[in-house]
Amino acid sequence: MSVVDIHTHVYPPSYISLLRSRTTVPYIYSSPSSPIHRLIILPSDDDASLPPSLRGRPVGPEYWDISHKLRFMDIHGIDKSVISLANPWLDFLSPREGAKWAREINNEVNEIAEKSQGRLYGFATLPLSAPVEDIVAEIERLKTLSYIRGVVMGTTGLGKGMDDETLDLVFAALERESQLIFLHPHYGLPSSVYGPRATEYGHVLPLALGFPLETTVAVTRMLLSGVWDRFKRLNVLLAHSGGTLPFLAGRIESCVRHDSFLKKTGKIENRRDVWDVLKNNVYLDAVIYSHVGLKAAIGASTSDRIMFGTDHPFFPPLEESETAWPSVNTNYTAIKNSLENSEDETAVLGMNAMRVLNLT
Ligand code: URA
Ligand code: ZN
Repeated sequence: MSVVDIHTHVYPPSYISLLRSRTTVPYIYSSPSSPIHRLIILPSDDDASLPPSLRGRPVGPEYWDISHKLRFMDIHGIDKSVISLANPWLDFLSPREGAKWAREINNEVNEIAEKSQGRLYGFATLPLSAPVEDIVAEIERLKTLSYIRGVVMGTTGLGKGMDDETLDLVFAALERESQLIFLHPHYGLPSSVYGPRATEYGHVLPLALGFPLETTVAVTRMLLSGVWDRFKRLNVLLAHSGGTLPFLAGRIESCVRHDSFLKKTGKIENRRDVWDVLKNNVYLDAVIYSHVGLKAAIGASTSDRIMFGTDHPFFPPLEESETAWPSVNTNYTAIKNSLENSEDETAVLGMNAMRVLNLT
């Protein structure tokens, strides 16, 4: 049996240098007088009421050094990993810089995978702030990088979200080139939703709720704007078991069917519904930390569309003495407790990824 981790991140060294060169989000803060390094990436991380040494989270070589990734894989019985650049990818770059950075990062990820003797593959990154021709050119170049198996993407698309009509050129290229989208959140919800006491609650509100709701809204906007009616073969792997999509799919569908505006504007007939898309275009990771959420994901999709992930290097143990990560073992247990037979378990742990992502 092979265990494959399809949700696992790196910041390649060149990207780390970029973060270190910046002083606004996203950036890495290093203290001149102590060994403190802080990764300040989330919009809510840059809280001016805190000194930079307390903002964001600690960052070390586990974020960029591949030997840490391989050791983590060995400790947790993971045979292969499909690595992706972590958020916020290249979203913040100026239109002129994006394409160059995408080429550099994608080459770097491909080289890392090439050197790994079959243990690593990668998702590429797109220069989403660049002109759309540059994005399409990078998608078309990916076939020359033999370890790339799709693209990781945030939910803001070209700046206007995933229902932006200009994105059709990108979706068309991805569909034509058979590149899957790994859709991953970063921006969460507006800070007003978290309330004036949010800083008292660490990262819980943005990570536990902001992230999954962001993904749910993004994918629902894709559905409502007819992305999968136009691109019937466009495949999307949703982070964190689809946010809350599996749980809310019935409600989304019911709201569509009871919307008189949609009916009057002819948007209800001849559309593919959320269940159809969930079973034919969507894959879900198993990064949901409980059999309750995972059973919803399996019920909305099927067990042959769900794939194990860890979100490494995020969610490390709080005690440095712990070598096995509770966040990973919680997901292993959820898989065990959600599936009725060992064949389905083997599929979710690795065989689905091997088939869907064409790993050898
Ligand atoms: N926090 C992040 O910023 N990104 C992840 O992927 C997980 C946690
Ligand atoms: Zn992640």
